[in-house]
Amino acid sequence: MKKRVCVLPGDGIGPEIVAEAVKVLDALALPIEYEYALLGGAAIDATGEPYPEATREAARRADAVLLGAVGGPKWDELPRAQRPERGLLGIRKDLGLFANLRPAVLFPELASASALKPEVVSGLDIVIVRELTGDIYFGEPRGIEVRDGERVGFNTMIYRESEIRRIGRVAFETARRRGKKLCSVDKMNVLETTQLWRDVMNELAPEYPDVTLTHMLVDNAAMQLVRAPKQFDVIVTGNMFGDILSDEAAMLTGSIGMLPSASLDEQGKGLYEPCHGSAPDIAGQGVANPLATILSAAMMLRHSFGWEEAAARIERAVRAVLAQGLRTRDIFEPGTRLVGTAEMGEAVVAALR
Ligand code: IPM
Ligand code: MG
Repeated sequence: MKKRVCVLPGDGIGPEIVAEAVKVLDALALPIEYEYALLGGAAIDATGEPYPEATREAARRADAVLLGAVGGPKWDELPRAQRPERGLLGIRKDLGLFANLRPAVLFPELASASALKPEVVSGLDIVIVRELTGDIYFGEPRGIEVRDGERVGFNTMIYRESEIRRIGRVAFETARRRGKKLCSVDKMNVLETTQLWRDVMNELAPEYPDVTLTHMLVDNAAMQLVRAPKQFDVIVTGNMFGDILSDEAAMLTGSIGMLPSASLDEQGKGLYEPCHGSAPDIAGQGVANPLATILSAAMMLRHSFGWEEAAARIERAVRAVLAQGLRTRDIFEPGTRLVGTAEMGEAVVAALR
């Protein structure tokens, strides 16, 4: 039985980097078939909507979704409901992709690309488990309205205990397969929503006696991530805090151009995308780093299809090209060899053998 992958190249550098990931998958000759569809600005241009019905159907039919990136200045003036980002939030919610795994791994070859001292980051290997379909991102009521003659903006931070429990379980399971340490991040000193978050995490802990659970307030967590990031193994947090902390964690590794992500539903179906955005400033120039997307494809093989050996082969090939000294512009340093998007993808294909 072939696995069906819905491919959403998206906007900006999306199509270029996705093409390289597909090259790598093709080189492994796996039983995969692709169905391409539009998301974000590309979809707005073609249909007027960021997450059109045809894309919804293709994504629902698929066993997994591989996404490039969405967004760009061209669509920034549109009303909120028609912007590319709405397409991304729409597909996450529609497919029930509540569990977002964002690994931040420092490749030894890139240690000097980090803004932090090598001794602070060398060997860094953490995973942020971010809740992705709740919190203030989706809470109602929300809006901007006039009250007593002035404009008021408001959003709702809200979590049900069932939502906290299911992301908690993903995080405990993730920690169990790794260093067995889980840090739950909240703001319980101020926000009731996150008091409940902490309570539910504590209630789950006895079911995972092999995992050590700790708690940290989000402001302290932001500080600890740059002070001593290696104290963390797995971090679990809500949608909003996770958005912020995962960008911070990504930058510890030197380049956000290296980091993949997985967004999973309750059955393990997932959407896989690089953590970086659509980089419209360099789109179409053939200089973008395709490695985060290639590593996202590896996560897809592992998490959605259970093809661990093929996933590990891709990851080894990425390490091999870095060891050969190949670098795209974002990770270039003197003494290494500057390559473009396609050359990097082809080098990974060559290193698979
Ligand atoms: C991310 C992005 C998105 C988010 C945006 C583009 C809506 O920043 O995936 O982290 O906030 O979730
Ligand atoms: Mg973000």
